[in-house]
Amino acid sequence: MKYDVCVIGGCGHAGLPLSIAFALRGKRCVIVDRDADAMQKVRDGVMPFMEENGQESLLEALKSGNLDVRDDLSVISQSDAVVLVVGTPIDSHLTPSFGAIDAVLEQHFPYFVEDQLVVLRSTLYPGTSERVVRWAERRGVRLHVATCPERIAEGFALREISDLPQLVGSFSSEGLKRAVALFSALTDDIIVLEPLEAELAKLFNNAWRYIKFATANQFFMIATECGADFRNVYQGMTARYPRGADLPGPGFAAGPCLFKDTMQLSALTNNQFFIGHASMLVNEGLPQFVIKQMKSRYPLRDMTVGILGMSFKANIDDMRDSLSLKLRDLLEMEAKGTICSDPFVHFPGFVDAEEAVRRADVLVVATPHEQYKTLQLHGKPVFDIWNVLPEQKEPVRQSS
Ligand SMILES: NC(=O)c1ccc[n+]([C@@H]2O[C@H](COP(=O)([O-])OP(=O)(O)OC[C@H]3O[C@@H](n4cnc5c(N)ncnc54)[C@H](O)[C@@H]3O)[C@@H](O)[C@H]2O)c1
Repeated sequence: MKYDVCVIGGCGHAGLPLSIAFALRGKRCVIVDRDADAMQKVRDGVMPFMEENGQESLLEALKSGNLDVRDDLSVISQSDAVVLVVGTPIDSHLTPSFGAIDAVLEQHFPYFVEDQLVVLRSTLYPGTSERVVRWAERRGVRLHVATCPERIAEGFALREISDLPQLVGSFSSEGLKRAVALFSALTDDIIVLEPLEAELAKLFNNAWRYIKFATANQFFMIATECGADFRNVYQGMTARYPRGADLPGPGFAAGPCLFKDTMQLSALTNNQFFIGHASMLVNEGLPQFVIKQMKSRYPLRDMTVGILGMSFKANIDDMRDSLSLKLRDLLEMEAKGTICSDPFVHFPGFVDAEEAVRRADVLVVATPHEQYKTLQLHGKPVFDIWNVLPEQKEPVRQSS
């Protein structure tokens, strides 16, 4: 085989770091993707999104000769293993959509070859891996299907791919052997599970994180409604108290994974995943809570609100499913206007932070980007749940 591994969806947030990591560890890796622009960027050595050490690592991987990006799908047939890392969204009814995996399988079917290792790296609705086995049987091709869910935190993939254990499961001993060998290039820390267990472990990891954020957010809302300063409560709960130390701080919790994966578990349990649903209501309700708090303090209808941070989390450029967007849309009803600002997301109409401060009557820190720590607010009132601004005493204050 010309390639050790072909990554389908290899220009995405999970797929590209994985492809780079394989190439840097000596695997001959070829990327296939339907996004022609992203493919061209990668070929040109330009990282299409923010990733710690991404730019240097991409150039190094291309220089090594181990990383290839091809339009020609026949490279799939020339690869010992095929890794699928396409997005796996939920639909408008909050139920998992199999369309993405089905589409990628059908589209690439003519290029799969007998005895190929097919690794599912996307986050999957439980049972999807087995569904892929049945699909291959129906199509009359013998594939070794393995499930190895990606668990990196977006933006830190290149570091975490080797720092985190890799979960590996397969339906055949041959598939397991080959999948373990492939991922051993990234780390010695491999945890072997049944495919269904690997699917569940990934979803539970994300749901657990989402639940923890929801807990912090609900505590924040309760304390604030009681008139207490949650920053002090948080300090009291967590400082030098090990059993409280794992509570995250409050803040917008969203993005392309946590909500979706929690809802996949809700769908799996016929909507009986009560704690997951409750977490969704709390996390998705935080923008409304922020607006309610602002309305109780200011004549919001006559004010322009500056939103600081539009990406779904700090210090990255990914705006997918960001609660900053929900806040902006809700404010269309509640305020005179909004001004959106982000140092990393370049989008028509967005302004820089200084301009947002100048033009807004009141500000919200929606994403705790590092650079806001030194932002001058010139006396503008600000709502900063994250406590990212310097010397802040309360979530709502008159800055000086
Ligand atoms: N983003 C993360 O940090 C992260 C972390 C862990 C797990 N995941 C999971 O990884 C999967 C991918 O997420 P992502 O954030 O990388 O998504 P993404 O949208 O950034 O990347 C998906 C890539 O697949 C490509 N693609 C989609 N359909 C295709 C097709 N039919 N043929 C070829 N290419 C196709 C897209 O063009 C895109 O480049 C999801 O299941 C997600 O839940 C993501």
